Amino acid sequence: MSEQANITLGSKSLEMPVKHGSIGPDVVDIRKLYGQTGAFTFDPGFTSTASCESAITYIDGDEGVLLHRGYPIQQLAEDSSFMEVAYLLTEGELPSKDELAKFEHTISRHTMVHEQLMQFFRGFRRDAHPMAIMCGVVGALSAFYHDSTDIDDPKQRMIASHRLIAKMPTIAAMAYKYSIGQPFIYPDNSLSYTGNFLRMTFGVPAEEYVVNPIVERAMDRIFILHADHEQNASTSTVRLAGSSGANPFACMAAGIACLWGPAHGGANEAALEMLREIGRPERIPEYIARAKNKDDPFRLMGFGHRVYKNYDPRATVMQKTVRELFKELKVTDPVFEVALQLEEMALNDSYFIEKKLFPNVDFYSGIVLSAVGFPTSMFTALFALARTVGWVAQWNEMIGDPEQKIGRPRQLYTGAPQRDYVPIAKR
Ligand code: SDX
Repeated sequence: MSEQANITLGSKSLEMPVKHGSIGPDVVDIRKLYGQTGAFTFDPGFTSTASCESAITYIDGDEGVLLHRGYPIQQLAEDSSFMEVAYLLTEGELPSKDELAKFEHTISRHTMVHEQLMQFFRGFRRDAHPMAIMCGVVGALSAFYHDSTDIDDPKQRMIASHRLIAKMPTIAAMAYKYSIGQPFIYPDNSLSYTGNFLRMTFGVPAEEYVVNPIVERAMDRIFILHADHEQNASTSTVRLAGSSGANPFACMAAGIACLWGPAHGGANEAALEMLREIGRPERIPEYIARAKNKDDPFRLMGFGHRVYKNYDPRATVMQKTVRELFKELKVTDPVFEVALQLEEMALNDSYFIEKKLFPNVDFYSGIVLSAVGFPTSMFTALFALARTVGWVAQWNEMIGDPEQKIGRPRQLYTGAPQRDYVPIAKR
């Protein structure tokens, strides 16, 4: 007899099956609740709701654990590559040498975008936010690839997935080039995925661009750290959009739009701007006080997390990457010292301790990206570039799930009961 959860609602009672995962919390299957009791569950923000079954990423927020197909993020960040992690997330297992070479070759054959897509950029102001451009241009891909939008055809889903993974760096680099008035640089498939992106971003037609292996490794690691993160807001957006049968390019554009928010992917841009505004360690107490003040909407950007009530393991790797990059490039940034002292003060402050607020992936990432040469406006676009791999993996898993159906939450209605229309002459 499988484990049951019981609920009694007035005169009605219901036994609901408890489902067990391979690791992590059990779930109570409430799908019959409304039909048998007439009541909904109520969970704004889905703090206690599992929206799906997934085998891609596991997070233990209390222990600060992040696994991709069972492999700890620390090991993947240290020993793997972004292309290998992309294969792992989308295919389910680490690739053999030949499988990886074939995957990288396939991806490299989709790095160019349709020449006409360049016209889309001309419609934006030069100072358009790169995320505005990414939303528009990625959504527009739907208009160029009618041969890979039939989501019921696994072959078309695979081609669309490879196109998205391959073209995001090209589009992100184009968004940057457009913003600084420099010509677009075509992909060079003799380079690695990340090296190709760096050249498209920082190269110019006037001279040869040599990829710095130290920067290439740091960026590749940053992409690994941002690749996937279970059912976060933007991934849930991609799943919800995909559940209606929308084409994958439109679904990814929806994910980009959601990621842009400062409470989510936009926090990396906001965190660096906050650290720069603080400017020097003596001003940290003022900002800590503001973050604790209920009447002040200010929050420490890059701090806190819906799931992690411990240190975000990605933040640990990110801080290590800052140290390594600064040492190897012989550079520094006073903002890093502000970040370290801000972390130290916050983690010793009862407000942050009681609310279990720790640095998250966005707290240090901006310092690395700034050291590499990206403007803060590009930070979330880089997050979207990397997270496209996770979105694609999660979207494919959702489409392939026999139990998936269109997402359609209900509500607790608190508006006016039925009433009759009153003609304006009588109001
Ligand atoms: C990402 O979901 C994911 O996996 C996301 C992500 C991914 O990889 O996809 O990990 C990427 O989005 C990381 C988070 C980036 N956002 C930020 O750094 C923005 C700052 N952080 C907060 O806005 C907040 O912590 C959230 C949005 C991240 C989480 O908010 P929750 O889970 O809804 O928690 P909450 O807002 O209810 O906060 C709980 C309490 C509140 O105080 P009380 O109302 O209980 O008194 O903690 C306080 C909050 O006021 N709080 C903070 C704070 N974060 C929460 N107070 C000061 N500074 C903060 N940063």
